[in-house]
Amino acid sequence: MYNEKFNVTIKNATATDSTICLPADIRAKKEYKYRDQLKIIGGNSEIRVDVVESDNFGTINLNENHLHQLGLYINQQVSACFQSIDKIKIGPYIGVFVNIGSLNSLMKGTPYKRLLELIKASKEENAIVYFMSIRSINWPEMRISAYSYNFNDNLWELKKFPFPDVIYDRGGGFLPNQMPVAKYIRHQFDNVETLIKFNSQHYFNKWEVYQRLASYEEIVSYLPDTLYCTNTNDGSIGNIMAMLNKYNTVYLKAILGSNGKQVIRLMKVHCGYEINYFKNKPVTENLSTIEEAVNRAKELLSSTSYIVQQGIDVLQYKERNIDMRALMQRNRKGQWQIVAVPVRIAAKNCSITSTSAGSSCYLFEEALINLFDYSVKDITKLKNEITRLLYTTVQAIEAEYGTFGELGIDIAIDNNGKLWFIECNAKPGKDTIFLSKNEEAYKKSFRLPIQYSQYLTGFTN
Ligand SMILES: Nc1ncnc2c1ncn2[C@@H]1O[C@H](COP(=O)(O)OP(=O)(O)O)[C@@H](O)[C@H]1O
Ligand SMILES: [Mg+2]
Repeated sequence: MYNEKFNVTIKNATATDSTICLPADIRAKKEYKYRDQLKIIGGNSEIRVDVVESDNFGTINLNENHLHQLGLYINQQVSACFQSIDKIKIGPYIGVFVNIGSLNSLMKGTPYKRLLELIKASKEENAIVYFMSIRSINWPEMRISAYSYNFNDNLWELKKFPFPDVIYDRGGGFLPNQMPVAKYIRHQFDNVETLIKFNSQHYFNKWEVYQRLASYEEIVSYLPDTLYCTNTNDGSIGNIMAMLNKYNTVYLKAILGSNGKQVIRLMKVHCGYEINYFKNKPVTENLSTIEEAVNRAKELLSSTSYIVQQGIDVLQYKERNIDMRALMQRNRKGQWQIVAVPVRIAAKNCSITSTSAGSSCYLFEEALINLFDYSVKDITKLKNEITRLLYTTVQAIEAEYGTFGELGIDIAIDNNGKLWFIECNAKPGKDTIFLSKNEEAYKKSFRLPIQYSQYLTGFTN
C-alpha cells in the first residue's frame, strides 16, 4: 500500500458533492485507479468523497458541511496518507492544550509569541493545529471549540474542530481554582483510547525528581545535596541548619515552583543570615538568627513543602550568576536532539538566572568564548560532557515518568568547571533561545513538536 505522506489542498466543492483528485503519482498506481469513493478521516471525523479525474491533482473539494465537519479552511494545504486501501487520513490534528490566559490572548487578537510561532510552524508542516483549554471540549459530541488562525482572512478565530489525534500539552500556569479542572481534563484524555498525548506531566515535583534521579549512578554525582522540608515538621529547621553548616549557602525551593518565583537563597554572613529572592526586583534582607531567617523564608515561599539544596558556587560574570537552559526535543523520527543550550546571566544582585528575573541570554559558544575565554578545546570537552549529561537525564526522566516530546533542563557550571543538574521542566519555554538571538533554533523549537506529532501518528516519509 502507498503509505508515504503526501500533500493535498482543500478547495470548496462547486456542487454539493465532495470529491478528491489524487496526486498524479498515486493516480498512476493501479490499486487506486478504479476506486470511485474514498473515506477521508480528520481527527475523529470521517466523510466520504468521490474520486474524480481532473487536472487539479492533489485536491480535496469539500462541500460546506464537510468543510465544517473537518474543521478545515479553503486553500489550506494538509498532509495526507493512506490508512487502508479506501481510507485517507489527513492531519495530524494537534490540539495544543494551554491555560485560559493563552486563549484570552488569542481572543483579543494579541497572541503570545509562542502561539503565533507554533501556528506559523503548523503551516510550514501542513499540520492542523488549534489551541484549546479546560472549557473547549464538548464531551458528548467529542468536538472541540478551539482557537486557530485563518490564513485567508489573517485573523484568529474560534472554530469547531474534530477531536484531535494528538494533545501537545502546554498547559502550565493554570490559576489555583482551575488546577483541579485541568487535572480532571487530563484524566479524561487518558480515557480516550485513540488519543496520543505528550508532555501531559503538569510539572515536576523538585523533591521527587531529586530522589528518583539520585538512584541513577551516572547522574547522582551531578545532583546538589538536597533535603526535604515542610512547614509542619520541626526537624526542617535542623535540616536547614545542617546544610548551612556544611555549605554556607543554600537554596530553598518550593517543590512545585517555576520561573524562579519560589526560590530563595539563604546564606550565613558574618553578622547573621542573608536571604535573597526576586519579587519584581532582586531583594536582599538581613536577619540575625536562623529562626528569623527560616521563618521569613517560609513566609515568602507560599508552599508548605520545599527543599533545601546545597548552593552551587556557580560561574559568574561581573559578579552575576550563570547557568544554562538546555532544550531537548524529539524529532520527526522520534529521536531526542539537543536544540540549543543558551547561557543565562542573572541580573545584578539576583540569586536566580530565570528570564522572568531579567537575566540576559547568550549563545553557548558566544558566552564561553567571549565572556569566559574558553578555548575551542575546552568548549568541545564541556559540550561532550553536557551532551552526555542531557541524554542520560532524559533517559532517566522517561524511565521514571514516561515518554516526553520535549524537556527543558537547567544545568550549572561551578568555579571548578564541574557540571550540576539544577532541575528539569515539563513545559519548557522557548524564550531563553529567543533572547539568545538563536533564530534558527527558535524556529526549530516550534517545528519539532509538530514533526514529532507527525511521527507519532504515522505521517512520515
Ligand atoms: N542549588 C543551587 N545553586 C545555585 N543556584 C541555584 C540553585 N538552585 C537554583 N539556583 C538558581 O535559581 C534558578 C531557579 O531555580 P530552579 O530550581 O530552576 O527553579 P524554577 O523552577 O523556579 O526555575 C536557577 O536557574 C539557578 O539560577
Ligand atoms: Mg528553572
